[in-house]
Amino acid sequence: MGTTTRKITESTGTEFSGLTGTQLVDKGVADDALAALEETGVVVFREADIDDESLVAFARLLGNVLPLPMGSHKIKEIQRITRDASQSKLAAYREATFYWHIDGTTGEVPDKATLLTARQISGDPEGDTEFANTYAAYEALSDEEKAQLEGVRALHSFTASQLVANPNPSPEERAAWDRNPTREQPIVWTRRNGRKSLLVGSTAGEVVGLPADEGRALLDRLLAWATQPQFVLRHRWTQGDLVIWDNTGMLHRALPYGPSSSRLMHRASLAGEEAVA
Ligand code: OGA
Ligand code: MN
Repeated sequence: MGTTTRKITESTGTEFSGLTGTQLVDKGVADDALAALEETGVVVFREADIDDESLVAFARLLGNVLPLPMGSHKIKEIQRITRDASQSKLAAYREATFYWHIDGTTGEVPDKATLLTARQISGDPEGDTEFANTYAAYEALSDEEKAQLEGVRALHSFTASQLVANPNPSPEERAAWDRNPTREQPIVWTRRNGRKSLLVGSTAGEVVGLPADEGRALLDRLLAWATQPQFVLRHRWTQGDLVIWDNTGMLHRALPYGPSSSRLMHRASLAGEEAVA
């Protein structure tokens, strides 16, 4: 089939080339993608040019596809990621994606993986997407730091993530944000298989049992640690690319693009399969 695969960085990312559209909707391709996702956190299908129906079909081979708050889109499993309010009712919230985060941390079980495909790109380097490997970041902590973090918990909320992008909301905005759930999560995420990662990012606003400033300082320190260059993969989009990330082990962010940018991504999300212990 002329397919090629390569590791992108030492720790993170696998790139597949040569597969497009319905060719991806195949059990063998899905199994390879899942294995690469487990091992390297990010999977890139270069110029996959996959339409929405095939994207959902492919996503179903990878896991349980979530219905998404869909804005104006017709297929309930596909969400449009754009700052263009005429294309998505959620456009106003997209500035928050410019800050490192993990999707679904306020849910009972954070999302397993996110699929994002580029329908329309803006000029580089605006709108690149970066990923930071939180397994590698945890692993690189000293034994003493690992021991200190055991049992430490943080509060995650939609409000915390929006405040980073918009520190001075109107009372109405703030009240709307606060209607979303808050969830306590451990900072060290331990999988059933023993693998550990750091669960941090913009949704984490406070550390349970610490004064606000000390908690903030710890969260800032951990986020700075986890997003050092050696843990980061940067994806420069080509139209048609499909990128999938292990949302449990990859922080991610978009590099800022302007409010009138034509950048348009279509996204599908997979339900989490393992609650955070
Ligand atoms: C997301 C997200 C980043 C991007 O869709 O969850 O964070 O680059 N997107 O658009
Ligand atoms: Mn996201």
